[in-house]
Amino acid sequence: MKSKSTILILSIVGLLISGLLLFFFASKKSETYTDLAVLNCHCPPGFKLNEDNKCIAKNLYQQYDSPNNLGVGGLQTGLPEGRDGFTPQEIDLGRYLFFDPILSIDGSMSCATCHEPNKGFSDGLPTSIGKDNLKLDRAAPTLWNVGYLNRLFWDGRANSLEEQMAITLFSEVEMANTPENLLHTLNNIDNYRKLFAEAYPERGKKEDIELPEIYKALAAFQTSLVSLNSKYDQYAHGYHEALNEKEIEGLNVFRSFVARCAECHTPPLFTNQQFAVIGTPEPDGLPLDPGAEIPFDDKSMRGAFKVPTLRNIDLTAPYMHSGKFETLREAVEFYTKGRGHAVPKDEKLYIHWHIWEPELSDYELDRLVDFLKTLNDESFTPKIPEALPSGLNVTIQQTLIP
Ligand code: HEC
Ligand code: HEC
Repeated sequence: MKSKSTILILSIVGLLISGLLLFFFASKKSETYTDLAVLNCHCPPGFKLNEDNKCIAKNLYQQYDSPNNLGVGGLQTGLPEGRDGFTPQEIDLGRYLFFDPILSIDGSMSCATCHEPNKGFSDGLPTSIGKDNLKLDRAAPTLWNVGYLNRLFWDGRANSLEEQMAITLFSEVEMANTPENLLHTLNNIDNYRKLFAEAYPERGKKEDIELPEIYKALAAFQTSLVSLNSKYDQYAHGYHEALNEKEIEGLNVFRSFVARCAECHTPPLFTNQQFAVIGTPEPDGLPLDPGAEIPFDDKSMRGAFKVPTLRNIDLTAPYMHSGKFETLREAVEFYTKGRGHAVPKDEKLYIHWHIWEPELSDYELDRLVDFLKTLNDESFTPKIPEALPSGLNVTIQQTLIP
């Protein structure tokens, strides 16, 4: 009897040890690029493949037909027109490009360096760090739902994702590449030649990779960053238990004619895509950022910025174009401190008429924050590649350089 149970215990222990060893070695085995050499032929979640091999957006907001640019979006308001119709292969190729530092002049920085999936596709910094550790002037915006935006950058100086990325790729202070060098580099990487041929089969295999293909793939990937399934969305579609009482109180303050948040941060995108002067402070010691005044060449837009989405806002601190506010509570409190309170004395700004003195109580501010946190939804976060076609490592900046 005794020896039987000893054998039993010993064999259980043995099994456990071998299980652990197996787990250890299995998790050690990292994917090599060749395991991934074929592009995904399925659409990302939130899209459906049509008969032309194109991914078409599918979401519950399509059942509502009123566009969200007409006044204060009700809970059941449709989305503005977004971009879709890319092939699964293009989207997947874009994913590799997005995470590959080979896109920067010295292989030091990828798009994901400043738009990290685990930081709400922002970088956690007040303002981003560019080439050679240079501190840039503005914060990295989230990329969630960016496929629905018609103007890009805080000041709206780009009209499309393609225009936007060309600026970043070839800006001396960011990725610092040149079109010639980027094409030369990618065309000399066999893995990329194969992937581009797979994503763009209509052209001959021998042909060189071209810039519009790079732009299109990166744009395709970015349109897959869809976040429309938060607790708030479930509530909006009629599942009332999705929000608790405090969160609903916050939503009511958000939509109220006192706070007026929803007039600019209009659901369901939580931006009306307009530009507004709200007079947020600059980082200490920095002069006023003229914002949209420059690209629009319009003095009345001095200090105006694109109304940012508030989707996944809880994940993208610090806040505003300047990264001046460390917490959501601080960002929200800004609106109660008096119209134009942070505008430098020698500046005359045309503060937007919806920015007033709502005199929200501490209780209301706390409820607003509760509500904003219900806009979290990362369920469609794409997979970070474990190996890259260029052979470089996925280098996502982990350390914060203040
Ligand atoms: C060095 C950090 C950095 C890198 C690298 C970087 N970005 Fe950005 N990105 C930013 C910053 C900062 C802004 C805002 C700049 C501004 O508004 O003037 C921005 C803005 C954007 C926007 C506009 C979003 C909006 O809501 O207007 C998009 C889209 C974008 N980046 C995509 C990309 C892509 C794609 C890449 C790679 C090709 C990339 N970024 C690389 C820092 C970076
Ligand atoms: C007149 C339009 C307008 C109104 C009304 C408005 N906002 Fe904003 N909001 C903006 C603009 C523009 C910015 C970006 C300003 C900047 O970066 O300097 C912004 C930024 C924010 C941010 C930071 C976003 C980020 O990505 O850093 C939060 C949070 C926010 N608003 C919440 C609110 C709340 C809560 C209310 C209501 C109390 C509100 N807003 C009312 C236009 C508005």
